[in-house]
Amino acid sequence: MVTTFEEYETVDLFADWDSKTQPIINLINLRKWFPVSQQSVLFSQVVAQIKAVDGVKLFLNKGETLGLVGESGCGKSTTARVISKLEEPTEGSVYFKGIDIFQPMTREEELSIKRQLQMVFQDPYSSLNPRRMVLDLIKEPFDIHYPDMAYEEKESRVLEILAKVGLEDYHALRYPHEFSGGQRQRIGIARALAIHPEVILLDEPVSALDVSVQAQILNLLRDLQIDFNLTYMFIAHDLSVIKHVSDRVAVMYLGKIMEMTPTGELFRRTAHPYSVSLLSAIPRPDPRIKMDRIILEGDVPSPINPPSGCPFHPRCYKAQEICSKETPQLKEIEPNHYVSCHFPEI
Ligand SMILES: Nc1ncnc2c1ncn2[C@@H]1O[C@H](COP(=O)(O)OP(=O)(O)O)[C@@H](O)[C@H]1O
Ligand SMILES: [Mg+2]
Repeated sequence: MVTTFEEYETVDLFADWDSKTQPIINLINLRKWFPVSQQSVLFSQVVAQIKAVDGVKLFLNKGETLGLVGESGCGKSTTARVISKLEEPTEGSVYFKGIDIFQPMTREEELSIKRQLQMVFQDPYSSLNPRRMVLDLIKEPFDIHYPDMAYEEKESRVLEILAKVGLEDYHALRYPHEFSGGQRQRIGIARALAIHPEVILLDEPVSALDVSVQAQILNLLRDLQIDFNLTYMFIAHDLSVIKHVSDRVAVMYLGKIMEMTPTGELFRRTAHPYSVSLLSAIPRPDPRIKMDRIILEGDVPSPINPPSGCPFHPRCYKAQEICSKETPQLKEIEPNHYVSCHFPEI
């Protein structure tokens, strides 16, 4: 007898959540600071804070793909790690289906939330234990979340999920090093998908792959999203992939969201000067179409000591005095178009 996942569902934390009117994930002023300590023989002292995530507001709607884009080091991975409960926030809240996931809860509730929020990492090789067979790697989430499930059933579910991600039964008995990069990412996806999550946080899932393999993995992700009614947060450091896969895009800079809008809007009615700079860096397929390239001057400042006011002001072509004094808040300037800027382009 095959038991269904519904029978295993023991917690009904989310009874009040309405998928039509409420986001599935909602971040409110999320902060994640990492302390920097100075060690001496006798004691260690916190001398600074790395403000990796510094007041992020964003939401995901059920069934959509939200692209999260920003230069390396701006806090994208940390945001995803806090959402999936791999890190605790320093301040602010993460709501999943209307529930604050960091409120005190029972172990069952904790597991139920973790089961529904899964992550796929950029480098599947370092995130897969090299000493374990694929069968065991994909079976592990069942061992954690469904310890009472019969071994045969776990095994048949592993084979089922391998087929879903385009791998064969015999692959179950192989080890990670026997696979290509694209196949390893399929294993990473299978592991995340095994226990039927609602949301998958995809942290640069194709950045380490060859372009031809990237397209295959992106197609697979799209098919799985439809099959399993998944919600994705798709992280990338540039817009070239994001613009093809996302329904909406959130642009991040130094721990904050600068702009969040439907993908088409971002290109047609770009509002934040930082988004304008990112867009102008995408190579054009037709070189006859001239576009002024805005070259971003200087490096991204350190998150240990971010600029006052708007963190982008030292590199911004529109900056005025107020930009160094007052931090602009993320505001809805048009329906579904959120911007944090004193002088948006629209
Ligand atoms: N565990 C950690 N301890 C200390 N600093 C960290 C840790 N994780 C990330 N950081 C720092 O936080 C900042 C944001 O990192 P990250 O979220 O990985 O950015 P991104 O994914 O956008 O490249 C970086 O300056 C990074 O060095
Ligand atoms: Mg990252």
